[in-house]
Amino acid sequence: MIYFISDLHGDRNIDAFNDYVKNAKEDDLLIILGDIELHFRDTDENREFSKYFEELPCKIALVDGNHENFDYLYSFPEEEWCGGRIHRISEKFIHLMRGYIFEIEGYTFLTMGGCKSSQKWFDWGLRWEQEELTEDEIIRAYRNLKEHENKVDYVLTHKYRIEDPKANPLSQNGFMNFVDNCVEYKHWYSGHWHKTKYLDDKHTVVYRTLTPLAGDVVLRTNDVACGK
Ligand SMILES: [Fe+2]
Repeated sequence: MIYFISDLHGDRNIDAFNDYVKNAKEDDLLIILGDIELHFRDTDENREFSKYFEELPCKIALVDGNHENFDYLYSFPEEEWCGGRIHRISEKFIHLMRGYIFEIEGYTFLTMGGCKSSQKWFDWGLRWEQEELTEDEIIRAYRNLKEHENKVDYVLTHKYRIEDPKANPLSQNGFMNFVDNCVEYKHWYSGHWHKTKYLDDKHTVVYRTLTPLAGDVVLRTNDVACGK
């Protein structure tokens, strides 16, 4: 079973995440849609969180967000995994690199992490230049999509928002426009906005609610979060 969660931000007290860790089965995979904040802040709390996270016994994959220590993520060896490329951080924990299409449990997933932080993060010195998508990563995604005839089952990004319908196709916005309009996909999962929200039949924003991927059935996670 595949689950999503997002934006842990170095917080050890997230019930849905702790429930997953406690109950995960051998075959389960949790995909975090960005902003873990591993080795991100120079605080004892962040060091403790990072150590705890790296020693977890369950399978976890990361689509990077903007609040990541990219020097740390990119320091691990790259390898092929399920049709794409990853950084293997430990036996159980991997980083799904940008612009690849992975085949997991019979479904294809396009992954495109990254996002630009707002000015305050620059001012605080908590910003890595690798947070923004490069043209090479976007070109890689176009190439891999073309090989799949612009068809995937799921799209996974940190942020989803269509801001400028005429954006340069080699920018993050332009790429998102292309995916939304020219790629055939079942559903798009993203994080970043710190809310759990089922936007429409094609888009779900994930936060700290454990959101299962149930094949062709898209669960309306905001209904779950609202207790309806
Ligand atoms: Fe974010």
